[in-house]
Amino acid sequence: MPLDPVASLMLDEAGPLPARVLVLDDVGGELTQAATEAGALVRTWCDDVRDLEAVPPHLRVAGFLTTEESPELVLWRLPQSVAAVEDYAEYLAARLDPSARVVAGGRTKHMTVAFNTALARQFTTVSASLGRQKSRVLHASGARPAPPRWPMRRYLPEVGVTAVAHGNVFNTNRLDDGTHLLLRTLSRAAGEPVTNGGPPRGVALDLGCGSGIIATWLAQRGWATTGVDASLSALVSTRLTARTNRVRVAVRRADMLAGTRSQSVDLLVTNPPFHIGAAKDSRPTLAMIRAAASVLRPGGEMWMVFNSHLPYLPELRRHIGVTTVEAQDRHYIVARVLKEHAS
Ligand SMILES: C[S@@+](CC[C@H](N)C(=O)[O-])C[C@H]1O[C@@H](n2cnc3c(N)ncnc32)[C@H](O)[C@@H]1O
Repeated sequence: MPLDPVASLMLDEAGPLPARVLVLDDVGGELTQAATEAGALVRTWCDDVRDLEAVPPHLRVAGFLTTEESPELVLWRLPQSVAAVEDYAEYLAARLDPSARVVAGGRTKHMTVAFNTALARQFTTVSASLGRQKSRVLHASGARPAPPRWPMRRYLPEVGVTAVAHGNVFNTNRLDDGTHLLLRTLSRAAGEPVTNGGPPRGVALDLGCGSGIIATWLAQRGWATTGVDASLSALVSTRLTARTNRVRVAVRRADMLAGTRSQSVDLLVTNPPFHIGAAKDSRPTLAMIRAAASVLRPGGEMWMVFNSHLPYLPELRRHIGVTTVEAQDRHYIVARVLKEHAS
């Protein structure tokens, strides 16, 4: 299979590969495979569990942005936000030898000059390649770590949560308008915040937890809550957010509801993904709606916010149960779905 244009440009720009290579955020395992075939000792770290699964298990680096050996070259598929580039650059500069090189590639339309600035804060030399097939590479070398700025925290008075987030997390530490509408609406059903222990109100799941705002908000109301996300940055952020707000939230890295036990959830709350990578795509959420019917207990509820134009209402009714629109504004719908008791 030919390499995709970004991976192909990255390998051409990298030149002959040194002995030890770290691959960050490979897509489909193709950089890992090409570098291994070129004879390098490769280790690969991927934020998204779906990317990680394409990497042979013995080449995976576990943990959050850790690496066992000091790599001489980093092949890095760039994320799409400046915040994520800043956060990864901080991590890399703090761990790389100054002689190590970073070759970071992406689609030109997803890159801005702010990426160069973020890298230049942490590396003495930063330059850009010429574009090829709508792709471009940034070269960085001479690691000189500047004080880290990520993860960042922010108090969100509208929901009474302090969010702590890494740069590669949806909306970082800010409150999404859809999430705000969802929590404002859900507050009638989820109960008041509780100040001391007592038995949990039930089992709640925040699907696509991001920085963990929803999960933390549910835990504050006495729900035994788990945050699920495909992104490890999201789970690390959710843990930080929960700890900062002095509540317990379990986290699990999974592709949607994979691994969630059947009939194990009383309250499923979600502001679901509407992208795969950079492309808008509602298929994963449609598949998740079908799976949600089996993970909810009879009598359980799912609360979901989504852009009004998305075709979810009929799917919720068809696959789960009675669905009501609890709130709607110019952009979003908040739907409540009841999984009925078996008759
Ligand atoms: C719209 S954001 C919502 C984030 C957070 N709950 C909030 O309200 O700010 C959707 C989240 O879903 C995650 N996500 C995307 N695809 C996923 C998948 N296949 N399985 C699990 N999580 C996914 C993203 O990483 C992101 O954190």
